[in-house]
Amino acid sequence: MCGIIGFSGATPALPLLLDGLRALEYRGYDSAGVALSGDGATFTVKSRGRIDTLEEKLKAADLPPALCGIGHTRWATHGEPSDLNSHPHTAGAVTLVHNGIIENYAALAHRLTLSGYKFHSETDTEVGAALIDFYYRLSGDPQNSLFAAADDIRGSFAFGVLFEDRPGEIYAIRRDSPLIAAHTEKGSFIASDVTAVIEHTSEYFRPREGIIVKISAGGVEFFDREGQKADCETERVDWSVSRAQRSGYAHFMLKEIFEEPEAIRKTVSPRLSGGLPDFGKDAPGLAELSRFRRIHIVGCGTAMHAGLMGKIFIEKFARIPVCVEIASEFRYRDPILEPHDLVILLSQSGETADTLAALRHAKSRGVATLAIVNVIGSSVAREADRVIYTLAGPEIAVASTKAYSVQCAILALFAVSAALSKKALPEPTARRICESLVNAVPDSIARLLAKSERICALARNYTDCEDLFFIGRGIDSALCTEGSLKLKEISYIHSEAYPAGELKHGTISLITDGVPVIALITETSLCEKVISAVREVRSRGARVLCFATREAARDHTIPCDDLFELDAPSGLPAAFCAATALQLFAYHAAALRGLDVDKPRNLAKSVTVE
Ligand code: M6R
Repeated sequence: MCGIIGFSGATPALPLLLDGLRALEYRGYDSAGVALSGDGATFTVKSRGRIDTLEEKLKAADLPPALCGIGHTRWATHGEPSDLNSHPHTAGAVTLVHNGIIENYAALAHRLTLSGYKFHSETDTEVGAALIDFYYRLSGDPQNSLFAAADDIRGSFAFGVLFEDRPGEIYAIRRDSPLIAAHTEKGSFIASDVTAVIEHTSEYFRPREGIIVKISAGGVEFFDREGQKADCETERVDWSVSRAQRSGYAHFMLKEIFEEPEAIRKTVSPRLSGGLPDFGKDAPGLAELSRFRRIHIVGCGTAMHAGLMGKIFIEKFARIPVCVEIASEFRYRDPILEPHDLVILLSQSGETADTLAALRHAKSRGVATLAIVNVIGSSVAREADRVIYTLAGPEIAVASTKAYSVQCAILALFAVSAALSKKALPEPTARRICESLVNAVPDSIARLLAKSERICALARNYTDCEDLFFIGRGIDSALCTEGSLKLKEISYIHSEAYPAGELKHGTISLITDGVPVIALITETSLCEKVISAVREVRSRGARVLCFATREAARDHTIPCDDLFELDAPSGLPAAFCAATALQLFAYHAAALRGLDVDKPRNLAKSVTVE
């Protein structure tokens, strides 16, 4: 999604803005631009394409040096990626960058046209610029004009705004879109997220909705509607700039997959006390999990797939019924929510618009909410009744990997906790599961990672295919959904995931000579069932790659073309290992196809629009 950056200080703004934009590249974008605030004038350069293209254009433009400016990476929503539609946009005295969507932009544009405004781009953002300028002309006051414009807008926004007659000042306001501010030795920043400023400081502010941020060389200030100074707590990132660098890995995605064993240990260990789950520090009051009669797990994409794993864990260990819901559907289908229900929101970024909307819907219906989120202080984390943070560290690659694994780990721990509170699991069994989550699971993944090159060699056999099917049963069926998404999003190979027993009810018609099928076998009890499905597809010509536990491969003849043995005990270690194996498969397939693994086409890291 769009990234915004702004700087005002005592050193030239342009290099800092470009560095900030590069740090935000991971969010996904198709165009970029900057505007520099000079004495009584604003100079804008913007361009479709990568930041390198913008830099070329900037060299040619030879702008006067400036100590203040704003920058933007655009992920097109209204209007194609083009120079004209790129941000910043200017109307009268106002130049701004925007992340979000102005839903009522057409009505606003019509109104503003009657006041003499003309629009040149296809964007909703240009209407936002005109609206702020309209009110600025009336009041001459930046803060009033921003509040007035915000009142008229239906939709989401984080705006970074320059006013032509106020050099050195940047104003910002947000609703439903992320925004941070920071003061550093060099000057002050606003940005979409902390990655853009981590090189300069680890302290930052996360302004709440309904206040205005003003930055200048002198510092960061916050104002409420009455024009009074408002408070905003300082937050601190607990990771260093090196966590957001590739550190010798070819891609962030590969680095993040390799961080999984540590991320799982780091996430699970602090939630254990005496070998049993203890969420007391994170989510007091959650201990009495037995009171919840039904759980809804809500998320999008990979997070929703982690929810499918959570459903299996919670239903198996705690015997509490779980519905897994796609966040974008949840609020519109009037879900049945009852007083003894718990809604769990899963999100890496904590800023996904659909997940945030689902959370607000659940809260409006008066049910208890729990967020499981990776980004500390993010909107979902702040608004939920309780939050458990996954401690995976920053995830930069668009394709989510370590965040998924830690979400699954926390859900397994949560399931054990709920089971104990319902007395549905004997304590020694609970202890064994917890022990496995901090030891056998990360150890097994670490052994798998050492065989990454073998998975690469196997992936080579499948890089030319157009379509691929994933099959598995039980937990493997849930793992397949995520394996399939991962492959699609970064390798652009079309794939579908099917419960192995369901294939014969229709989709098997697509299995013909040479069609690749990936089969997962980590559940010992279902091994023979999956082998039958493998036979069915092979007898129709499929080429089958099987990821199976060593135990399954030892005890059964698996009729496949390629076999990868998972060196992990069956149960949780094998399941987590299989998840990582499929991530590596997708990674290698995409890398072998020569694709931009970390920035797949059309995708954004944090989807902050509906
Ligand atoms: O930040 P979130 O976990 O809320 O993001 C949800 C999805 O947008 C995200 O998982 C998406 O599916 C990723 N591209 C998957 O790799």
